[in-house]
Amino acid sequence: MTQTVKYLKDYTAPTHLVPKTDLLFEINEQYTDVWATLHIEPQNGATELVLQGDVKLISIKKNDETLPETAYSLNPNDETLVLPNMPTEPFTLTIHTQVEPQKNKSFNGLYESEGNLYTQCEPEGFRKITFHPDRPDVMGEFTTEIRANADKFPVLLSNGNKIRSGSLNDGRHFAVWHDPFVKPTYLFALVAGDLALTSDFFITQSGRRVVIEFYTRQADAHQVAFAIESLKNSMKWDETRFGLEYDLDIYMVVAVGDFNMGAMENKGLNIFNTKYVLADSQTATDADFEGVEAVIAHEYFHNWTGNRVTCRDWFQLSLKEGLTVFRDQEFSGDRASRAVRRIENVKLLRTHQFAEDASPMAHPVRPASYVEMNNFYTMTVYEKGAEVVRMYHTFLGEEGFQRGMKLYFERHDGQAVTCDDFRAAMADANGFDFEQFALWYSQAGTPTLQISGSLKKNGGNLDYVLRVKQILPDTPDMPASQKQAMMMPLAIALFNENGEKGAFKLPNDDNSYNETILIVNQAEQEFVLREVQQSVTPSLLRGFSAPVHLQFDYTNEQLALLLAHDDDEFARWEAGQTLLRRAIFANETALQQGNDLPQNPLLIQALRNILNDNNLDAAFKAMLLQVPAEAELWGERDHINPVQTTMAREALLDEIAHALHGELLATALNARESENADKRGKEIAFYEYNPKDAGLRALQYACFPLIHRFDEAATIEQVFEHYDEMARKNMTHEWGVLSSINSNASAKRDELLARFAAKFDHQALVMDKYFSLIACSRRADTLVQAQAALNHPRFALDNPNKVRALIGTFARNVPHFHALDGSGYAFVAQHIKKIDAFNPQVAAGLARAFNLLKRIEPQRQALMRAELEAIVALPSLSKDVREIVEKILA
Ligand code: TRP
Ligand code: ZN
Repeated sequence: MTQTVKYLKDYTAPTHLVPKTDLLFEINEQYTDVWATLHIEPQNGATELVLQGDVKLISIKKNDETLPETAYSLNPNDETLVLPNMPTEPFTLTIHTQVEPQKNKSFNGLYESEGNLYTQCEPEGFRKITFHPDRPDVMGEFTTEIRANADKFPVLLSNGNKIRSGSLNDGRHFAVWHDPFVKPTYLFALVAGDLALTSDFFITQSGRRVVIEFYTRQADAHQVAFAIESLKNSMKWDETRFGLEYDLDIYMVVAVGDFNMGAMENKGLNIFNTKYVLADSQTATDADFEGVEAVIAHEYFHNWTGNRVTCRDWFQLSLKEGLTVFRDQEFSGDRASRAVRRIENVKLLRTHQFAEDASPMAHPVRPASYVEMNNFYTMTVYEKGAEVVRMYHTFLGEEGFQRGMKLYFERHDGQAVTCDDFRAAMADANGFDFEQFALWYSQAGTPTLQISGSLKKNGGNLDYVLRVKQILPDTPDMPASQKQAMMMPLAIALFNENGEKGAFKLPNDDNSYNETILIVNQAEQEFVLREVQQSVTPSLLRGFSAPVHLQFDYTNEQLALLLAHDDDEFARWEAGQTLLRRAIFANETALQQGNDLPQNPLLIQALRNILNDNNLDAAFKAMLLQVPAEAELWGERDHINPVQTTMAREALLDEIAHALHGELLATALNARESENADKRGKEIAFYEYNPKDAGLRALQYACFPLIHRFDEAATIEQVFEHYDEMARKNMTHEWGVLSSINSNASAKRDELLARFAAKFDHQALVMDKYFSLIACSRRADTLVQAQAALNHPRFALDNPNKVRALIGTFARNVPHFHALDGSGYAFVAQHIKKIDAFNPQVAAGLARAFNLLKRIEPQRQALMRAELEAIVALPSLSKDVREIVEKILA
């Protein structure tokens, strides 16, 4: 397979359209035969037809006549089939191919899992099934017939409505599905197997009845109720908030344990990783429930943002993903704890997307080039893309944003379009100039806003003058000198020394405001807020109004003031985070210079006030107590010494745990009391997921590890003795307890983990939790235990969830992945090579763990480099892994 780079600028319209595709799948024991009849419409007199395919070709018919082999050429190098002399009038091609789903461990195309067959076609998996232009701007209507043995494959599913079914000879049966909506090939899906059905229904706002069908393994059917409720809530929400109604009469969700990502929005037939469907309180944590709700919503929302209006080409991926993530974030925020959800999103963005943007993998929200499209399902396309959509919303407000959405659907329903089309709809519906805003789609890297403020006399009044400078970083694709100033909303309010929000006026405007949104759109600019009070502490970037780094020279006292009083929860939390970051950085400096560690009385007092504040929501309080993780601390720093960061962070945790022991204990006990309050005498199963109890539990387990920080021996004894009682309420408690003692050096910790593994031996998703506990422990023997876990009977290198749980988690375990003897790097690299042989997509995901290479101190950098060079030296390396590793090394 050659390493060809595809460029956005090279886009050309398709030479042939395929408005109809008829498929026939004959499923046999060893292989599946596929006949695809493509109804082809040549454009502008084109005669040469190029189809994409990476599949065994048996024969081709043109208008029912078999083509001689001389009529076409197969090019395995670039996976094309070229037919040079095709008619200029519409014609059909019937292509017979053969696939071996049992041998397919890439989980891309048609594959087998536990005896059942599933497809995954986004972005370019359809070509592993048959030959087709296989590009998202070639859309068509699909009819799919599936034939298979009725005992082995009683369930036969595809997109749209089932129009016929019946039995055939030899114990076989068939089903024919028709999808009336045109769609690209990447939304095609097929499922065949022996699956349990759980059904329900939803009545749409216009009164149509939609059948809901969830397919799982028989043994898992009792775990789908929450996902079904989540789907109904999503359908309702999209009607009320976006005015969007579901369009088919049936909505199917199939859960499969072998799946490369979270889930896939195939029209009318979503296919999901079991992780995002199955949940009950004995096996899923509160966070897992929230994950199920969010992913069910995400895939459902794609029906309009992705399926009805799709992408012209894969460079536009964020058109559907950024927008759909924004929509699922808003849904989750409307469901519960909006502020906490927002902070979680920001934390995810800053931990992983900012790191990506500061790495050799940096790319714009709309990438300009790619080698392997699977490598571009990134934090930047999804999460930064969602922030870009959120900025339209911040500029336009809810009503203006909805006007834009409405125009977008009016103009583009049934089409494959670009990010510019979306931007134009937002602009035109509101008469708002989003010209400069286009830079968010083409300039990579996280901008930094350097802000300073000063008071100025103006007659008898005071003005507050804000100077805002935006700094754009160099990225591998573009030096900073070629970048232009971006346009972004800067939400701001002013607080006085008592923590009250002060009023101000804007230039040429006599209204009084106590918050506003400034439009930043120049490299350097000044904003004047008029008639302000004597003392000003600005609350900046409220709600995280733009995905940027913010620099403002706050005093610690000002940060404590905002932490105590800001009414924007993001800004309030961020003030606390800044204090925590400063304390960790000071520890790092002290460690580097061999000085005593500094004390942080102001921070400690601020945290004490938080712990003692009975008016704070529990979930929010738990967020305020989170100390930033290592990856969040590295920002754009160079010469990172990862283990030193860990030590500096641990030292701060020591200080907090020591100084606030009593308050932490009281807070945790209180939260436990509140959680138990309404449950006395009731069934254990009453400890089910709900946002309020989830917050109380989050608070308990934010305190628990700090409370037990110093007395390892006593803690493990206590947990050991009370484990069953603590764990039996639900998985959140069980997980919380195990996480809290997971780094304990005692043999009893191993015994608890072993008991946990034995208890959940047949629950694959809980076993993933077991493997991730092994891999995230900070105990000295973690690598040894991780290596041993590879041989656990429930571990499987060909199952992506297992790989992510054990090896992926290990790669994020800072002291162990970055062990100074190189053993952590070697362990991960060894498995990248192994997995690449059968699942390049998952291997490439693991390879990203090395993207810190250039920013890490020299000794570790050399060890990392040696591993990466050994990987690229492999002749059989996939283009997926090669693209990632070559970029890191470049
Ligand atoms: N479109 C899917 C989503 O965002 C994700 C996806 C892309 C995917 N490629 C995939 C899922 C490959 C599984 C396998 O919801
Ligand atoms: Zn998506």
